[in-house]
Amino acid sequence: MTDARRPLVAGNWKMNGLTADGVALAKGVAAHAADAAAEVAVCPPFTLIGAIGGAIGSGAVVLGAQDCHTASSGAHTGDVSAAMLADAGCGMVIVGHSERRTDHGEDDALVRAKAEAVQAHGMTAIVCIGETEAERDGGQTLDVVTGQLAGSLPDGSDAANTVVAYEPVWAIGTGRTPTNDEVQEVHAAIRQALAGRFGDDVADAMRILYGGSMKPGNAAELVALADVDGGLIGGASLKTEDFAAIIDACG
Ligand code: PGA
Repeated sequence: MTDARRPLVAGNWKMNGLTADGVALAKGVAAHAADAAAEVAVCPPFTLIGAIGGAIGSGAVVLGAQDCHTASSGAHTGDVSAAMLADAGCGMVIVGHSERRTDHGEDDALVRAKAEAVQAHGMTAIVCIGETEAERDGGQTLDVVTGQLAGSLPDGSDAANTVVAYEPVWAIGTGRTPTNDEVQEVHAAIRQALAGRFGDDVADAMRILYGGSMKPGNAAELVALADVDGGLIGGASLKTEDFAAIIDACG
């Protein structure tokens, strides 16, 4: 974390949340975010975007989504476009989460096209990358992560329209995390790759989040790392107290 970049704490609710609980959670988060140093976002499932947008109002919390289609509209049954999400009040959209890459066969080219759609509609793409356990064990982590970064980020990416989220697949929902040194090593490699492609100014300003079993107990040490600028939080974003504690750790 550095003063040059405002930390971002983004909650990825995944396929969780019915209206009453989701609204209560969002209101609790909004009350806490009002005084937070970090920027705070919540990414509910599509069904709750309208209700959560109403619950958080125009306050400190950014409304986000978890995926979008590449097209603005058309014959794509079951899909939701970036244009629709912007219209619904979203400011951020997660793209390329490993669960989408695995469950829906999304590759870097598709993730890049989704990120382009998000950016084109004036929102910020949270672009997820991360190695599997086999890739880490095989010593391929930096190659995999920088390869995904190169393939998934649009050419027009900058610090306003893009956030990178490093999420080791084996750390998501498992309670396991890399060591602090391992996290910093990957984040530094990401920033170096960003500098090589977009220049030092963009690389210095773009936020790189850590995701994967971030919790109140480890958030402070993770965000203290030089190139960690906040977190993308799954399980711990579903409890107001836990999410609030992580927000505080990023202050
Ligand atoms: P987790 O999920 O915090 O439950 O590990 C993080 C994510 O998948 O974004």
